[in-house]
Amino acid sequence: MEYILVTEQHEPFVALVQLNRPKDLNALNLQLMQELSEALHQLDKNERVRAIIITGNEQAFAAGADIKQMADRSAVDMLRIDQFSTWDQIRKTKKPLIAAVSGFALGGGCELAMTCDMIIASETAKFGQPEIKIGVMPGAGGTQRLTKAIGKAKAMELVLTGRFLSAEEAMGYGLVNKVVPVEMYLREAVQLGREIAQMAPIAAQLAKEAVNRSFETHLDEGLHFERKNFYLAFASEDQKEGMKAFIEKRKADYKGR
Ligand code: CAA
Repeated sequence: MEYILVTEQHEPFVALVQLNRPKDLNALNLQLMQELSEALHQLDKNERVRAIIITGNEQAFAAGADIKQMADRSAVDMLRIDQFSTWDQIRKTKKPLIAAVSGFALGGGCELAMTCDMIIASETAKFGQPEIKIGVMPGAGGTQRLTKAIGKAKAMELVLTGRFLSAEEAMGYGLVNKVVPVEMYLREAVQLGREIAQMAPIAAQLAKEAVNRSFETHLDEGLHFERKNFYLAFASEDQKEGMKAFIEKRKADYKGR
């Protein structure tokens, strides 16, 4: 992998994926996104991984899709290359994904962070969808996910003006889970990953799926989906272990089975 660094066992059961094109503020070119997609696919299958952190560096999580790579393309090129198809893997990742964001999370960078399940931000983080300033619009989920996360009025303002949200504002709008000093954002994200990794992995997967379903369907169907996943959790050994451990007043030892 040229543009990402993967540490499978950053912590027991927690993998770290670092976007690594620092000179270009981690601009998301085709190759980087293909590598990210492949890495997530592999980590999703890896039984020693229960939570995945995606991060950049202090200066930038990612400053968006690679403008230099896209600038001269025609609509037919865009259709043919279909660059956002590699993004589907991120959305399909079954394990919990945490974005650890410092510096710029713009355009595709903001969209990537929002595709993760949770965002831990440093005080220096800046979120935005500035595509309008370069004559286009968000194309990797920004108009949908930002609107669902922070509401129509604010999302419309950000998408139509390209203004940035500070970490503090993003926290106020419910876009991020937590804001911490810059020297702590990665540690904080890993700590969150570690906490999640102590839970039963199958239950975590089923729960993530059910929360995400709430964005895609109406209440009745969502409740039905949730109930089925709840019942399905009883097919796992970890459900027996979790409930037995509670009754025996001890810590559960989950195996992911
Ligand atoms: N694509 C390609 N290169 C990028 C880039 C991007 N999105 N963002 C930054 N870079 C490059 C710059 O071209 C520059 O490279 P050179 O040194 O070779 O010139 C390097 O990264 C450093 O950037 P700046 O000199 O511009 O740094 P700055 O601190 O002055 O400004 C910034 C930082 C405000 C983030 C500015 O770089 C910027 O506005 N970047 C573009 C942000 C943007 O418009 N993102 C949306 C892209 S489109 C998209 O993402 C579509 C989608 O929905 C997926």
